[in-house]
Amino acid sequence: MCGIVGYIGKREAWPILIKGLERLEYRGYDSAGIALMESGAFSVYKKKGRVAELSKFVKNNKLSGGVGIAHTRWATHGVPSDRNAHPHVSNSGDIVIVHNGIIENYLAIKKILINKGYKFKSDTDTEVLANLIEDIKKNTKVSVEEAVRLALAEVTGAYAILVLSKDEPGTMVVAKVGSPAVIGVGKNEFFIASDATPIVEHTKKVVYLEDGEMATIETKKDKLTLKIKTILSKKTKSPYIQTLKTKMEELEKGGFPHFMLKEIFEQPESLRNTIRGRIILEKGNVKFGGLEKFSKELQNLKHLVITGMGTARFTGLIGEYAFEELSGIPTKVEYGSEFTYRKSADAQHTGLIAISQSGETADTLNAIKKAKQDKMLTLGIVNVIGSSIARIVDAGIYNHVGPETAVASTKASTSQAVLLVMLAVYLGRMRGLSKKSGEEILKEIQKLPELVEEVLKNAKSIQKIAEKYKKSPNFFFLGRKYCAGAAMEGALKLKECSYIHAEGCNAAELKHGPISLIDKNFPTLVIAPADSMYEKNKTHIEEIKARGGKVIALVSSGNPEMKEIADDVIYIPKTLEMLTPILAFIPMQLLAYYISVERGNDVDKPRNLAKSVTVE
Ligand code: M6R
Repeated sequence: MCGIVGYIGKREAWPILIKGLERLEYRGYDSAGIALMESGAFSVYKKKGRVAELSKFVKNNKLSGGVGIAHTRWATHGVPSDRNAHPHVSNSGDIVIVHNGIIENYLAIKKILINKGYKFKSDTDTEVLANLIEDIKKNTKVSVEEAVRLALAEVTGAYAILVLSKDEPGTMVVAKVGSPAVIGVGKNEFFIASDATPIVEHTKKVVYLEDGEMATIETKKDKLTLKIKTILSKKTKSPYIQTLKTKMEELEKGGFPHFMLKEIFEQPESLRNTIRGRIILEKGNVKFGGLEKFSKELQNLKHLVITGMGTARFTGLIGEYAFEELSGIPTKVEYGSEFTYRKSADAQHTGLIAISQSGETADTLNAIKKAKQDKMLTLGIVNVIGSSIARIVDAGIYNHVGPETAVASTKASTSQAVLLVMLAVYLGRMRGLSKKSGEEILKEIQKLPELVEEVLKNAKSIQKIAEKYKKSPNFFFLGRKYCAGAAMEGALKLKECSYIHAEGCNAAELKHGPISLIDKNFPTLVIAPADSMYEKNKTHIEEIKARGGKVIALVSSGNPEMKEIADDVIYIPKTLEMLTPILAFIPMQLLAYYISVERGNDVDKPRNLAKSVTVE
C-alpha cells in the first residue's frame, strides 16, 4: 500500500511531488509527507491527514529544492500519526527514505540497531531500513547506492523505496521487490512513482523497474544518468524505455462531482473500449491477441480457477457460471489470499485466471506466483497496463477502461464481467460451442454499451430511492445463479462507500438463517430479472414481504407485477441471463453512490481503504 513519488531535475520539486501524491492518494491517505533537498540540506515535513493539508503547509512555508521524495500512507506498521508518516530520516540525518510495502524482518534488525545505539522515533519498519542503510554506509564507507543494495540484501518482504543521502545531494536510489515503481524519463530530469499517473503529464517515456532491481539516478557534470542493476547479483542492464499511451483528460473528473460518478457514467464507453476489435461475429468467436500463443495449452485445460479479491472475485463468480455453461470446463472461484495456501490438484491441466483492476493486489499476485510454481498456465484480466500482474502472467487480456481512480470499483467491474463471458465463448468455441451460439452471445455483448446507457437514464429515480433508504443501518442484496455474485458486489459497493452494514448472498440461502434479521428496518435489494430464476426470486421477495421487510426489486423492463409486490422497483433492459449481472451492477453502483453522498461521506476515498491493496 502507500504511494511514493520522487523528482530529480532542475525544476522546483514540490509542485510535482504534491500533484503526484494527489494522483496516488487512491493507494492510501491516512498521512502524507515530503522531503526536499536544497544545498545539501533536507527539509522534511510529514503529517497525519490528507495530501491537501501537506500541500497547504508546503505552499505557506515556501519549501524549496530540485530533488525530493514524497509519500502518501496507508498504515501497516504503526497507527496513522505524524511520527509514523513518511519520509523517515536516519539517526544522523544522512538518509531519508519513503517506502511502500512491508519489511518483514524489521524487528530483528531493529534489535541489532538498538544494541548499536540507534534510537527510533516511529513504530515503522521503514525507519529501521533508513537506519540500516546509514549503519552500512557509515561502517563500510560505501556510496549510498551500495549501502542501499547491501541493506536490501539483508531484508525480507516487499518494498518500493526512494532513498536520498545528504552526502550525495545529486543522487536518488530507487529499488523494488513486490511493490511497483515506475521511472519517468524527461529531459535531464527523472520522475519516480508507484504508478504512471503522476508521470504522464511530464513525460510519456517510462521504465518499469522489475522485482529485485534497483535504479540509481546520478548527477555527473550537470547531467543526470540512470543506471539499473539487480540487487543481489549487481548485474547491470540498460533501461528499457517504453512509451505510455494514457491521456491527461482520463485522469481528471471531467465535470462530475466525484470520480466514482464519472466512472459509473463512463461505462457505455469503457465497455465499448473493452469489446472493441475483439468480436469476430462471422466466426462466432472472439480474438484475444494476448492468448494466441497459448491456444494449445488452452485447449488442454481441464479445470479453471478464477482468483481475485473484492469486486474482482465477485465478477469471477459470474465467470464461473459462464465457463461451465459455455465451455464445460469445471471452474471454481477462490480468494487470491486462500489459493496461495491451498494444495493444487491436477495443476498441469488447470488454468488460473487472475482478475485485478490495479494489477498490484498482493493476494492475487501471490496466488499467481503459487500457480506458476505449480506449473499452471496463468492468465490475467488486468486494467493497469504494465502493472505487476500484467507482467507476471503467462498471457493476459487488458480491460482498456482507462484509469479507475475512485476506490470503489465500477467501470473495471463491468469490463471484467464482460471479458469473462467473452473468454468463456473463446474457450467454448475450442470445445464444441457452436458458431451460431457464439454469434448470438456476441451480438448481445455488442448491444451492452447502449443498454448501459438506458440504465443510466434512470439515475434520478435511483437517487430518490437512495434518499428514502439513506438512514437504514443494514441492507441485504440477494440474487441467484449469475446474479448471486452481482448481489455480493452490490453489498460491497454499498458498505465500502456508505459505511452501512450490507450483506450480499445467494437468495436461496436467506431462509437458512439470514432471514431472521429481516424486519421493517432491514431493507433488501433483490435482483430478479426475467430469467430462469425469476419465479424463485419472486418467492424470495414474497417471503421477505411476509416478514415485514422492505424490498427494492431490480427487474427487467416490462415486468408488470413487481410494482404490486415490492416497495420500490428498478428496471433494467432485458438481455441474456449471463449478461444481466453487468446491467444489474449499474443501479447498485448508483444506489451506493447516492446514499453515500447523502450521508456526507468522502465517496472517492472511503475511510480505512486504499484503491490498491498491495499488502497481504
Ligand atoms: O485492483 P484489484 O482489482 O485487484 O482490487 C481488488 C479489490 O481490492 C477491489 O476490487 C476492492 O474490493 C474495491 N474497493 C471494490 O470496490
